[in-house]
Amino acid sequence: MADRTIQELFDLTGKTALITGGSGYLGTAMACALAEAGAQVIVGSRDLSRAEKAAGALPGEGHQGVVLDHMDSEKLNAGFEAALAVSGKVDVLINNGQNPIANDWTDVTHEQFSNQLGNASGYFELARCVRNAAVAGEYSASIVMLGSMYGQVASYPDAYEGVSVASPAAYHALKGGIIHLTRHLAVYWAKEGVRVNCLSPGPFPNAEKAPQKMVERLNKKSPMGRMGASWELKGAVVFLASDASTYMTGQNVTIDGGWTAW
Ligand SMILES: NC(=O)c1ccc[n+]([C@@H]2O[C@H](COP(=O)([O-])OP(=O)(O)OC[C@H]3O[C@@H](n4cnc5c(N)ncnc54)[C@H](OP(=O)(O)O)[C@@H]3O)[C@@H](O)[C@H]2O)c1
Repeated sequence: MADRTIQELFDLTGKTALITGGSGYLGTAMACALAEAGAQVIVGSRDLSRAEKAAGALPGEGHQGVVLDHMDSEKLNAGFEAALAVSGKVDVLINNGQNPIANDWTDVTHEQFSNQLGNASGYFELARCVRNAAVAGEYSASIVMLGSMYGQVASYPDAYEGVSVASPAAYHALKGGIIHLTRHLAVYWAKEGVRVNCLSPGPFPNAEKAPQKMVERLNKKSPMGRMGASWELKGAVVFLASDASTYMTGQNVTIDGGWTAW
């Protein structure tokens, strides 16, 4: 591989990037980052109008929205085919969507727990679609899974007591599993030019939704004394998606203001 400048390495011009949950809080910032770096972005959402609105708001031309529900294999495959049809390839996948769960360890049912783990099934199946298309089309691909600091460390129960649902046990099982699924797929696909890495955000509460009391408690626990802003994931997602990280696969990049460093 020839030596290239730093601008060339981070440039996503000519790449097509699919991001699930791309109209969500962090998804919007990451989709914007990919578009700003030059990619054609395909925004996945369970709702077409939401996907199209988010794609239309991105900087640059040619972005599109597709319906993609990763909790249902048939809908997942239909969404992927729609994304593939846009430009005949998907060079970058950001597995970001998250079907939520509200029940913590106290009352979650077996069925709800299993359903939450279904997010990992969706991440896996969509990653395999991207790998298969890249291998068949003889191009390289970069897959980014969204993990979490809560896939690496335990919850902080005091932050949630009395103000919010605690971070659910099934979510911790899910995110820990996604970080390890990343390693597994990375080694199987490394020689095929398909990289798989994980991006694990720390506390990035959506200011419009998160209870202020909870945020105050989390601020006290954070080494930086503050929450992450959604734009603070932009650099990492472009790094992982682009040729700036061509020798990196199977890794978990944690952006958490130092939370997991304690
Ligand atoms: N915010 C944080 O503090 C934080 C911390 C650590 C990790 N994370 C991770 O970062 C990712 C984004 O989180 P966020 O805070 O941006 O959450 P968010 O605003 O709720 O966005 C999540 C998106 O997932 C999509 N989604 C839900 N069910 C789906 C399904 N079945 N198939 C495909 N997409 C689905 C939704 O989009 P539609 O309704 O349009 O389909 C939603 O916009 C998640 O994986 C989350 O676990 C977030």
